[in-house]
Formats: sequence, C-alpha cells, structure tokens
Amino acid sequence: MSQIAVLAGDGIGPEITAAARRVLACVLPALSFHEAAVGAAAIASHGTPLPDETIAICAAADAILFGAVGGPGFDGVRPEQRPEAGILGLRKRFGLFANVRPAQVFAGLEERSPLRTDIVRGMDLVIVRELTGGLYFGAKTLGLEAGVMTARETLVYTADEIERVVVFAFELARGRRKRLTSIDKNNVLVSSQLWRQIVAERAATYPDVELEHMLVDNAAMQLVRDPRRFDVIVTENMFGDILSDEAAMITGSIGTAPSASLGAARGALRFGLYEPISGTAPDIAGTNRANPAGAILSAALLARFSLGEHSAAAAIEGAVAAALARGPRTADLCAPGETAATTSSFADAVIAELANARARVPARS
Ligand code: IPM
Ligand code: MG
Repeated sequence: MSQIAVLAGDGIGPEITAAARRVLACVLPALSFHEAAVGAAAIASHGTPLPDETIAICAAADAILFGAVGGPGFDGVRPEQRPEAGILGLRKRFGLFANVRPAQVFAGLEERSPLRTDIVRGMDLVIVRELTGGLYFGAKTLGLEAGVMTARETLVYTADEIERVVVFAFELARGRRKRLTSIDKNNVLVSSQLWRQIVAERAATYPDVELEHMLVDNAAMQLVRDPRRFDVIVTENMFGDILSDEAAMITGSIGTAPSASLGAARGALRFGLYEPISGTAPDIAGTNRANPAGAILSAALLARFSLGEHSAAAAIEGAVAAALARGPRTADLCAPGETAATTSSFADAVIAELANARARVPARS
C-alpha cells in the first residue's frame, strides 16, 4: 500500500489539499495518508518551518501532497526562519531537481485568459524548472561591507546539475510534440553560457527533438505574443519561477496550475512533491472559495510520476477538465454575474465526473 505524506501548510493550503486528497482517495482507495506540519503553521506548532518529524514522515512516504506556505508577519525575517524555508528545505533534502509545471488552456476557459481567445486557444506547454540550484540555494550575506549595507546572493550551477534537468526535459519533449526551448540569459550570465553549452551538447543525443535557445526577456515576451509556439521549456530556478506564474495566468487562472517536483528516477518511478503553484492566497484563505483544480491536478501528477498509476492520473485529469467545462466554477474563473462554486463543491463536481466516466466505460472483468 502506498504512503502519501500530506503537508497542507498555510493560507488556502488546507482547503485545497483536502479537496485533492478526497479526489485521490476516490480513484486510489488503498492509499494511506499521513499529515505533517510545514511553513508558518509549523512555526506556530513546532517553532520551525520544517520540523524533523515532518522530514521523517516524508522520508517514509512514496510521495508528498503539498499545499502552500507563506504568510504575513515575516518581512525582514531571516530566510531560514521564514515559512518558505519549509518548501525550499524539502526540495533540497529530497533532491527534487526537476520541477514540472504544465500550463494548458482548458476547453471552455479561453474567455478567462487575459489574452485574446485566438491567441490562447489550444495552448499546451510544460515548463521544466531546475529546482535545487541557482540563486535560491547559493550563499547569501547581508551586512556592512566597507561601511555600506550590502546584500549578496550567489548563483552557482555545476555541469551535473544542469545536465540532469536538461536530460529530463529532452525526454519529456520526446514524449510530447518534440520541441524544446531552453531559456537563459547567455548574453550576460556565465551560468547561462554553461547552461547553453550543456544543452547544445545533449541535443546530439536527441536528434528527433527540435531545439531552440531563447533569452529570458524575449521568452517573457513570446509567451504573451504566441504561447502556442511552445511545447517544453527548460530553464534555471529563478527564471522558471517567474515564467511559470506568467504562463499559468495566461491560461486564465493560476488556480488551475499543478506542479510536480521530482527527484532521480527509481526504476520507472520518482519520489516527488506535488503542489499547486498558486501559493497561499491569504485574501481568501479559510473561506472555501479557492480553486482546488491546481491541487487536484497535482494529485494526478502524483499518481502518474510517483505511483505509476497512469489510468488513475488520466481519470482525474479528465474529470477536472469535464468539471471545468461544465461548471460551476470557482470565483477566479467566473464571468461577471456568474454564481461561484466553493472549493468543496468543485471537488464534489470532479468526483461526480469521475463516477460519470466510470459509468460510461464499464470496468473490464
Ligand atoms: C513557487 C513559489 C516558491 C518559489 C516560494 C514559495 C519559495 O513561488 O513554488 O514557485 O519561489 O519557488
Ligand atoms: Mg513561484
């Protein structure tokens, strides 16, 4: 029986994670779930954003279902004592270097995009973000240097760190439309020069994948000009953080965007952490109004990558797409005047769509 660590965290995390867990349990009833504290909630209960007990529960699990971390009141607090240290510590501790962030426009939601429908209809891309290197994990200092307050961040990438995420992205592109865009800032950063060199070397192994290099500022522009031109994007940690929010919003709402953070392959499977990219949304936390679609779709990625349950994953994805098409939708996706679904009623709708799909396709005996 597979074990799932559930780290709901802060803000809307508990509501949307409960919805995702409910849907996952419907499709895979034998899973066992183990809750643990993280983020500001863990600071409140354990005095630290990532308690040892939480790490132990995650280490004993097959995958982590994650909500969100963050909160007010931490301005100026040292990075290691902030709620975000919870998620960053997990990524590093479990070597979750490959962050998969799909951004697709669901049928029926084209009108919700801030861009014109003819620009976004059919958009379907995946950002592969390097997740354990770069500015996020380099040495940091803040203090007086020669009498002037000075902040230093360090951007470090080794060839091996670049290589493993690039290989992951090439493999992903091979299973999709076979186009890979590598995004960097090669005209300014030496880390990007190394990045581009390794991508170019690796391309020889993937002659079937069409490769392009693109500078990150241009990529930000191309994403709004013509998002459909992209299939798989691979990029370093900070660029991927920024571009994945942009790509998600273009689809209509950041609330529908899932993610998988994956470690090295263990046979056909990978240990992973699965979280929606929406964050804590403090303005609506605790009101049962958040869109759980991104969390539910993250649970589908969990089933696929960490459990190898491909038909369960596809069933969840199909049910979410059907529920989004049919409505009712949560407030983030409502047209003016439309009545919004709650977090829990949207999860109910997904579960009803799962039952519909099962009724249409009788199980083979
Ligand atoms: C994300 C988030 C995190 C990040 C924060 C919460 C540390 O923005 O997962 O994209 O910057 O990676
Ligand atoms: Mg982010």
